[in-house]
Amino acid sequence: TPKLYQITQIEELSLLSNLSLEQVYFLGEGTNTLFVEETAPIIVQPAIKGINIVENDNEYVVTAACGENWHQLVTYLLESGINGLENLALIPGSVGAAPVQNIGAYGVELSDVLYSVSWYEFATNTIKEIDNAACKFGYRDSIFKHELSGKGLIIGVTLTLAKNWQATTSYAGLNELSIDATAKDIYDKVIEIRQQKLPDPHVIPNAGSFFKNPIVSNAQLQQLSERYIDIPHYRVDSQHVKLPAGWLIEHAGFKGTSYGNAGVHDKQALVLVNRGGATGQEVIALAKNILISVHQKFNIMLEQEVRTVTQHGYQKIEVSCG
Ligand code: EPU
Repeated sequence: TPKLYQITQIEELSLLSNLSLEQVYFLGEGTNTLFVEETAPIIVQPAIKGINIVENDNEYVVTAACGENWHQLVTYLLESGINGLENLALIPGSVGAAPVQNIGAYGVELSDVLYSVSWYEFATNTIKEIDNAACKFGYRDSIFKHELSGKGLIIGVTLTLAKNWQATTSYAGLNELSIDATAKDIYDKVIEIRQQKLPDPHVIPNAGSFFKNPIVSNAQLQQLSERYIDIPHYRVDSQHVKLPAGWLIEHAGFKGTSYGNAGVHDKQALVLVNRGGATGQEVIALAKNILISVHQKFNIMLEQEVRTVTQHGYQKIEVSCG
């Protein structure tokens, strides 16, 4: 049986030096993680709590500890009259996990409001503040997935939320809100859209989007558009566009299908679900079939977003396509 240690106080972090770090997997609430074997590494779950709000002339400076629940933080701030996180409502998981993949939804990313990350560095047993630029945020990406992976722990975040709040309503679904939409209107709408499309992980086990939306060149889009006139795309920069992986998976014929007890959600093909009793191997087999078919049909290799964890820690799903 896997061992799980919960850390509720910063002082306990020094005890981690007694564990061999190669054998440890750091977990938030596990909402973006899939354990694919019956055995797992030792799990350390930071569960430090606390929210602190300081106000200056222009902004609210919010410090939240890693073990806070993300959606509860969003709700608490909204109810306190502090806006800016409403587009990120109902994202499952913890505050401490949020910077790792730079959570984002409906036109806003964490990196838009994050000032710094409090980082407990194992090598020195000290706490460092890593500012926004040093986090090297990208689309579902940060330094915490790369150079700093396994080197320490996120123990909290500091966010700056402008008093002069501006609504972000450009994303499909939010653009039907009126121009004087309040943060509460956006919060409610985001929750409504998410509940329509995304299965509640407490009811139908899932880890959200299984793959990232691929970024392709203009030339590749041009080629695809010749065959698929209606292929949706979003501009990233003058040379690149992002394609919805859900559309690619749906058009490869997978929406609503199953492999054993693992399945592709019928309202959002980017989400793989456990229909009851699915094994890790079934989910992996389904993911591989999707990777291969999407590659064959569109010449695009999707990249997984969910963390698949074996007894040796995170292990990426690999397929070979000629
Ligand atoms: N689409 C389809 N078929 C599908 C699903 C999507 O054709 O089955 C197409 C539609 O054209 C739709 C478009 O894809 O308009 C975009 O779909 P959606 O708005 O549901 O968003 P997404 O691109 O599939 C991303 C994030 C979500 C986030 C939403 C909203 C990634 C990997 N996923 O999904 O994040 O909630 O945008 O901003 O970027 C997550 O990371 O776990 C997650 C749920």
